Amino acid sequence: MNIQNKNYRTIWPDARCQFVNIIDQTKLPFAFEIVRIDSLEKIVTAIKTMQVRGAPLIGAAAAYGMALAMREDESDAYLLMAAELLKNSRPTAVNLAWAVSRMVARLQATPLDMRNFNAWREAANIAEEDVAQNQKIAANGLTLIEQAYSSVKHNKNKPFNILTHCNAGWLATVDHGTALAPIYAAHDAGLNIHVWVDETRPRNQGASLTAWELAQHGVPHTVISDNAGGHLMQIGRVDMVIVGADRVAKNGDVCNKIGTYLKALAALDAIFYGHKIPFYAAVPSPTIDWTMDDGSNIEIEQRAEDEVAYMQGLSLTGALQTIRVMPIESDAANPAFDVTPARLVTGIITEHGVFAPKLLNPNALQKVK
Ligand code: MRU
Repeated sequence: MNIQNKNYRTIWPDARCQFVNIIDQTKLPFAFEIVRIDSLEKIVTAIKTMQVRGAPLIGAAAAYGMALAMREDESDAYLLMAAELLKNSRPTAVNLAWAVSRMVARLQATPLDMRNFNAWREAANIAEEDVAQNQKIAANGLTLIEQAYSSVKHNKNKPFNILTHCNAGWLATVDHGTALAPIYAAHDAGLNIHVWVDETRPRNQGASLTAWELAQHGVPHTVISDNAGGHLMQIGRVDMVIVGADRVAKNGDVCNKIGTYLKALAALDAIFYGHKIPFYAAVPSPTIDWTMDDGSNIEIEQRAEDEVAYMQGLSLTGALQTIRVMPIESDAANPAFDVTPARLVTGIITEHGVFAPKLLNPNALQKVK
């Protein structure tokens, strides 16, 4: 991703494999800060506090976390302790557990004195694979957008409107993004695309991260309150919904940021008003959990009440402020994800192709490969 004419990824190791650099996402959109992470403890904190976030990125970050751990101590005991610590840092995105398990398997098969070296190599492989998967998702999603774009009867001056939720852009991955990857591809191909960006309370990943990314890339977009999407769909102002995912079950149920389910419901109902709005999830294969039959057993992360009770932003004088938005005596609840049933999902865009949820299975993915 280009930021002020410089190409960045969201995480990258230093040349001597002593530490990793991350973009601190808690500071965006008001400051672009790169932070050096040089210990297992610091990467666990970065994941928990969401300095790095988004399912594929926390997978890559956890893989580098294992590498940082091996730099500290290559023993079996430390390996297993680090894996446990990382797996428990955030529960919902399966990419994290997937990446840690892959690292453990690779390192347990490695002699002690080679573990540090191999850990950095395997973490880099995971990061590179993420980039390649997202590039293919961009191409597969672009085909869908092109088909819908030409079938929607719109005059050339009317943009093709895509609604997205939370941040499934390059900031949520190592590079390119999942849901936003086809959008960038469509924009770069010259299609007249406009994006409705759900603000995504409570942490506002839409307003602060997706909007920032789209602005950096020059993609026309408008931030909307989370409650506006249904109305815009009803009146024909949304042509397609594309979201990311933190975990997809075997039956195609899609677990993603809280509020995704409501958008899928609204998209389905829009047909009643004469608007057919396809609802897609863009999902690299490590996000599919083949051990989960359906979405009902996915652990939904419960985050701190303060994320609901307080908001952060710039004051009119330009100072960064945190303000309380509800009575001091009220409680808040903060479930961070929800599950959109497969029946509401038009298709899953993967690096291997686009699948109807019920056709999702490892063999089908292999065949397309
Ligand atoms: O809590 P977050 O910000 O990590 O949640 C991120 C999302 O829900 C994204 O939509 C999801 O991880 C898809 S990432 C490409």
